[in-house]
Amino acid sequence: MRKNRPVTRLPFGAAPGFRPGLRAFWILMLCAATFCAMALAAPPAGQKQAATVPATVAPALPSGYVGSETCATCHEEVSKGFENNLHTKMALMHGSAGITCENCHGPGQAHVEGGGDVTKIFDPAKATPAQVNAKCLGCHAGTHPNFDRSPHAKAGLSCISCHSIHGAEVQKPLPASMNMLGAMSNARSAADKEMLLKAPQPQLCFQCHGDVKPQFGMPFHHKVNEGLVTCNDCHDVHGAFLPNNLKSTADQNMICTKCHTEVRGPFVFEHAPVKAEGCLSCHSPHGSQNPRMLNMPNINVLCLQCHSQQAADAVHGMSSPSSDSVPCTSCHTYIHGSNMNAAFLR
Ligand code: HEC
Ligand code: HEC
Ligand code: HEC
Ligand code: HEC
Ligand code: HEC
Ligand code: HEC
Ligand code: HEC
Ligand code: HEC
Ligand code: HEC
Ligand code: HEC
Repeated sequence: MRKNRPVTRLPFGAAPGFRPGLRAFWILMLCAATFCAMALAAPPAGQKQAATVPATVAPALPSGYVGSETCATCHEEVSKGFENNLHTKMALMHGSAGITCENCHGPGQAHVEGGGDVTKIFDPAKATPAQVNAKCLGCHAGTHPNFDRSPHAKAGLSCISCHSIHGAEVQKPLPASMNMLGAMSNARSAADKEMLLKAPQPQLCFQCHGDVKPQFGMPFHHKVNEGLVTCNDCHDVHGAFLPNNLKSTADQNMICTKCHTEVRGPFVFEHAPVKAEGCLSCHSPHGSQNPRMLNMPNINVLCLQCHSQQAADAVHGMSSPSSDSVPCTSCHTYIHGSNMNAAFLR
């Protein structure tokens, strides 16, 4: 049920999301290619060494920057743990200048010269949410342009409320054998690791949204806990234009009909509320006590909310159905719309 997610626009962004092994392979290939290119560009033996730096060599670090190798001399653990992090790709950008750490922590020279002066380095854990978001969005605004107006940002959350950059547990790629397994749960957790999430979904969300958790335990529910559907299929936690963080679409029902294509229409005979009020006029999106996740335990009561008993009596005559007779849908089967019959009988 998961769609391919957008990736940050980069030369390597095209690598398939679920195969870290393949990504690593391409990175290695690029390293090798760069190395070859540099070797080829080297002047033949015996020729006088040029005074200037050859163009193929990485440009010097901007002033104030020391490079990730220097950070590693004191932060060995963190640096080792970072080798598998998607953010190592940044080391390959900027002409392989290797300023990975300092892209997020800012120039580190003063910090290093101060022998690790903590006041001279940007530490996101101690910064305000706005500062953290600005730092991350410096690169990720392309995929998450609306974060600042999302309910999450307005509530004072930052990217690191949900993402952990150095959390060793969430950045280690799974062994290849585990990725080969088709099982949903594995694909899910592998994806969560790639997304550098603090906790796997949906637990991450339930940590703060405990109030909606019982809805997914109801007798009829979207199988989020079972890994079949994710919160993100319907919500964009990074911000959208609709209320409730709902993913915005040209047609509001698209949030539902991208999966439930059979009720999408258009139909020759539309049932007005499906298009007007939308799916939620009859269904509860998370879960419900009622079959088909309906808002009401009794289908006929649901229908009679909008269709008066008098009107029903008028069309059905003597044996007119009421709230406790056979369900209206036993005759009006195509309740979402029909191409054959104005009364949705077939
Ligand atoms: C993508 C942004 C990003 C990059 C790149 C990055 N860090 Fe961090 N770093 C963070 C954030 C955010 C925190 C705050 C804690 C957290 O959320 O994990 C942090 C925290 C730290 C801390 C404090 C950790 C602690 O356990 O108290 C150190 C030290 C550190 N980073 C060093 C590094 C080094 C060394 C590198 C390069 C190998 C690096 N960082 C690369 C974002 C980054
Ligand atoms: C000369 C050794 C040294 C080098 C080199 C070094 N650090 Fe540190 N760093 C330290 C020490 C010491 C601390 C304080 C550790 C502590 O309090 O646990 C520290 C703390 C930090 C913190 C946490 C700050 C805080 O608020 O607690 C971050 C982030 C950090 N370093 C990032 C970096 C980055 C990025 C680099 C490379 C640009 C780097 N460090 C290079 C020694 C160094
Ligand atoms: C200097 C640019 C830069 C900064 C700053 C930066 N990132 Fe990234 N980030 C990247 C790149 C490049 C990738 C790898 C992109 C890809 O795979 O498409 C990435 C990947 C990610 C991913 C995984 C995306 C995926 O496709 O699976 C997450 C999550 C993420 N970054 C969060 C953050 C957070 C949170 C911060 C701030 C603490 C941050 N980034 C800061 C450039 C950056
Ligand atoms: C409320 C929790 C939450 C917050 C806050 C949050 N994220 Fe995410 N982020 C997620 C989840 C969950 C996913 C995985 C989405 C999925 O499975 O499709 C994700 C995925 C991502 C990805 C990779 C996939 C993509 O859509 O690009 C990036 C990059 C990313 N987040 C960056 C950020 C940045 C930058 C911030 C801060 C401006 C941020 N996130 C704030 C929960 C959050
Ligand atoms: C660190 C706590 C935290 C985490 C983790 C978190 N949220 Fe939220 N979320 C909030 C807060 C605070 C708000 C704004 C206050 C509110 O409306 O409840 C919010 C708002 C929302 C809203 C909008 C509610 C409304 O009434 O408009 C949705 C939907 C939502 N979050 C979904 C998610 C999903 C899905 C996840 C997991 C990927 C998630 N959240 C993770 C704290 C969190
Ligand atoms: C099938 C689509 C769908 C899925 C999956 C889904 N939601 Fe929702 N969610 C909605 C819709 C639609 C609304 C708006 C409900 C309304 O307007 O009455 C909503 C409302 C919310 C709200 C705000 C209203 C409230 O009840 O407090 C929160 C918070 C929320 N969802 C969190 C989550 C979390 C967390 C998950 C995953 C565990 C999740 N949702 C999964 C569709 C979905
Ligand atoms: C990511 C795909 C996806 C999205 C988006 C989605 N659904 Fe579902 N929905 C499913 C799946 C899968 C099932 C079947 C679950 C099962 O087998 O129990 C289901 C079941 C249902 C059912 C019960 C069907 C039955 O036979 O009992 C209803 C009603 C429903 N969804 C309505 C909605 C509505 C309304 C929305 C939009 C708010 C929505 N769905 C969004 C995937 C999705
Ligand atoms: C006017 C009320 C109403 C609206 C609006 C509505 N539904 Fe339904 N839906 C029902 C009823 C009633 C049933 C149960 C039919 C039955 O029991 O035979 C149902 C059943 C379903 C089912 C179960 C499979 C099926 O076709 O019987 C799905 C899936 C579903 N609806 C999705 C949606 C989606 C998606 C939307 C929005 C595009 C939507 N519904 C809008 C009343 C409605
Ligand atoms: C949210 C309100 C609402 C609910 C709930 C609802 N309907 Fe409707 N229904 C309408 C509206 C509005 C029309 C269009 C009426 C018109 O054009 O005169 C309509 C049209 C119809 C029609 C086509 C006949 C006509 O008058 O155009 C039938 C048949 C029908 N509904 C049956 C049902 C049944 C059966 C249910 C319960 C499963 C149901 N409706 C639930 C609002 C609703
Ligand atoms: C025994 C089968 C049956 C049941 C049960 C039934 N209907 Fe009907 N309904 C019909 C038939 C047949 C028509 C007439 C269709 C026509 O004249 O084209 C009709 C017509 C209608 C119309 C008007 C359609 C139009 O085109 O003007 C509405 C509204 C309606 N029914 C609503 C309901 C509601 C609400 C219920 C449940 C309380 C219900 N029906 C239960 C068979 C049934």
